[in-house]
Amino acid sequence: MVLGTRPEAIKLAPVVSALRSRGPAFDTTLVSTGQHREMLDQVLHAFDLTPDLDLDLMQPAQRLSDLTARVLQSMTATLHDLKPDVVLVQGDTTTVFATALAAFYQGIAVGHVEAGLRSHDLRNPYPEEMNRRLVSVLTAVHFAPTALARDNLVSEGVSPETVCVTGNPVVDSVQTILSSPDDGTGTTLPEDRLAGHRLLLVTSHRRENWGTRLEGVCNALRRLVSRFDDLLVVYPVHLNPRVKGPVEEILGAEERILLLPPLAYAPFLRLMQQAYLIITDSGGVQEEAPILGKPVLVVREVTERPEASRLGIAQVIGTDPDQIVRAASRLLTNSTAYTEMTRQESPYGDGKASERIVNALERWRTGKRPLLPREMEFVAGLGPVAVAS
Ligand code: UD1
Ligand code: UDP
Repeated sequence: MVLGTRPEAIKLAPVVSALRSRGPAFDTTLVSTGQHREMLDQVLHAFDLTPDLDLDLMQPAQRLSDLTARVLQSMTATLHDLKPDVVLVQGDTTTVFATALAAFYQGIAVGHVEAGLRSHDLRNPYPEEMNRRLVSVLTAVHFAPTALARDNLVSEGVSPETVCVTGNPVVDSVQTILSSPDDGTGTTLPEDRLAGHRLLLVTSHRRENWGTRLEGVCNALRRLVSRFDDLLVVYPVHLNPRVKGPVEEILGAEERILLLPPLAYAPFLRLMQQAYLIITDSGGVQEEAPILGKPVLVVREVTERPEASRLGIAQVIGTDPDQIVRAASRLLTNSTAYTEMTRQESPYGDGKASERIVNALERWRTGKRPLLPREMEFVAGLGPVAVAS
């Protein structure tokens, strides 16, 4: 199993533990490319995971081409040494694409977790939509989180025999973290800081939003705090200097906008639970918000995760500051509109994705088809999943 960034670790952690719980049936080696350093280590720590091998490839302000080349070279050597039967990757990052390519060159099968997400716009999100499509071509076993993701793959010519619908393991992770005892590091926002305020939680880091669009998001946040005097914005800022720089410059001096360093997973989820409203361009946060029944405004032009907006519990609003202010103001003033978006649903998973992935992997190895019998696949729409409050 190979991972490199924060979201990959969050979503692969439960799969690692499901594989290892099967005893000798699987011999699992966890490899980190170290595409992220601090943000990855935070998650590994939360799940008590230590990579067997850490390639430690992150460089400051890394360029896509350089990182791709470093991962391809290092993973080529690593796979040559380890000679696995299958390499599992998750998602759409440079780590995932370059690892899948390295595996393909050596004739090693790739299993892709969170396969089949599509925005149908190659430049949005950039480069993730391209990475996902390239990885799908290189993949032998596709673990699609939803029926829509499966349909995307099949419509691109992927054999249905090689796809199964598992749910997204992010739900497994949320359940695990929120059911663990709060050791005190879970409280990130002193109660007195929040008292009398409504919390607007923000994350934004996408490459296609760097520059004017990210500035537009920041300016919209300033306008919102000046319009609503009970609003407290909390924004844990991504460590990418192309994000951190402008965000701190535009928002650093605002009294009711709290810029925080990236938070460990448990404190971040607890902050989501405290939030009145969430504004984000993150993939993972779009999936977590509905589990917690929190309305989410997606500051992107398109999303590869349309399930929540189709249910009316998320809204894709773009990055135009006027539109952001309008959409957020509506939810901050219109209680009917707000309440409609607080329905707790989980179109992305039911907490059993890791088990399904391991079951499907076992069936794939022994030549059983389909990868999962229909009745064992994830079906959305069966109501909220249980999470500790
Ligand atoms: C990457 C992924 C993106 C994912 C995001 C999750 C690609 C192409 N992009 O974003 O899909 O949504 O991670 O967060 O793979 N940095 C640190 N410490 C860290 C992490 C990052 O200092 O722990 C800084 C470094 O200067 C690094 C820079 O951020 O060079 C960018 O890291 P990178 O992984 O390239 O981030 P993104 O491409 O923005
Ligand atoms: N997250 C976190 N700490 C933070 C911000 C986000 O643990 O300060 C978690 C969040 O809950 C989600 C994941 O990180 O599971 C999203 O990561 P990111 O936004 O970096 O990547 P994306 O999901 O957009 O690929």
